[in-house]
Amino acid sequence: MASEKRLEVVTCTAPVNIAVIKYWGKRDEELILPINSSLSVTLHQDQLKTTTTAAISRDFTEDRIWLNGREEDAGQPRLQACLREIRRLARKRRSDGHEDPLPLSLSYKVHVASVNNFPTAAGLASSAAGYACLAYALARVYGVESDLSEVARRGSGSACRSLYGGFVEWQMGERADGKDSIARQVAPESHWPELRVLILVVSTERKPTGSTAGMQTSVETSALLRFRAEALVPARMAEMTRCVRERDFQAFGQLTMKDSNQFHATCLDTFPPISYLSDTSRRVIHLVHRFNAHHRRTKAAYTFDAGANAVIFTLDDAVAEFVAAVRHSFPPELNGDKFLKGLPVEPVLLSDELKAALGADRTPGGIKYIIATRVGPGPQVLDDPGAHLLGPDGLPKAAA
Ligand code: DP6
Repeated sequence: MASEKRLEVVTCTAPVNIAVIKYWGKRDEELILPINSSLSVTLHQDQLKTTTTAAISRDFTEDRIWLNGREEDAGQPRLQACLREIRRLARKRRSDGHEDPLPLSLSYKVHVASVNNFPTAAGLASSAAGYACLAYALARVYGVESDLSEVARRGSGSACRSLYGGFVEWQMGERADGKDSIARQVAPESHWPELRVLILVVSTERKPTGSTAGMQTSVETSALLRFRAEALVPARMAEMTRCVRERDFQAFGQLTMKDSNQFHATCLDTFPPISYLSDTSRRVIHLVHRFNAHHRRTKAAYTFDAGANAVIFTLDDAVAEFVAAVRHSFPPELNGDKFLKGLPVEPVLLSDELKAALGADRTPGGIKYIIATRVGPGPQVLDDPGAHLLGPDGLPKAAA
């Protein structure tokens, strides 16, 4: 009989997602069940991803976690909720009579190490990629093959949408136990190859109100949020799904902008009000509308989450001109190649007409830099043992 392995270790990567129909508000804080469905675009992992190694061993005496090289408190409730959920699913799988693919006991402690390939300081939401990656890695290590929405969701609601590539909806569900509150792919990443995504990283000093606390206050105080969730989002979900299926950029862009604006309107309707947009964010909004007005069609669309950074959607034939427009309105303080990261974008000259349309309002340094990316795939398992962030002793490998 094969002797029991001392250490089971798996390394995965997971993507960031950006919602075009926003999730804001929970009906159940404990299970993380939303008051409305939401829909997102999965961003490509070449530019933005989390890598996570999970290991279990009978030698471990406690659960431990390292984020970007620093040990954090593994007792934090959301991490423990994910662990409880995955162990429950693994136990269920055993009791359902499936062959246990791993001989390691479910009572063994876990070590987790996770890193992002993008600076945390950029203020990009990393919790969705982080918890999706954790759920995916834990599932591999514990031999769980069922839907992982529930596991990822317990870490961060939006994380369940990072379990799939392409275009993803999180169906709010109706059940009190949350079993039907799951993420589902609407279209794969290959569906709309012309779609481009630009992340405009805005300079900002203050730390905004976190999503969890912010949405809790909104649910308690904003009648507008309740109206949005009940009366508006269902039709918006159907319309956004159609826009994606038919690759209708005009309607996709317009609805994306309207839904972002409505989300920020519910923040202002929250009492005391929450404001995530900065003066630069509002300048980006005006820039996009001027750009579109000049072209007499929607060629670019913005969306903002719980922070000042803008995410812009365009098609590949408009991306170069839009980047040039950003450079014009926000003259970079970083030199050319540092200002634009990610996918290459050809430099182009702006026409005098477009320059005039953009107006004289220019804000040097308002945008720190741009990350150019596209729609990407869901989580991946890395087979190369060299990719593990934990060594054979289950501790983080020394940084190279
Ligand atoms: C504005 O998923 O971060 O980005 O469930 O409390 O962890 P918790 O919140 P989180 O909220 C994301 C809010 C949003 C919109 C969205 O991604 O849908």
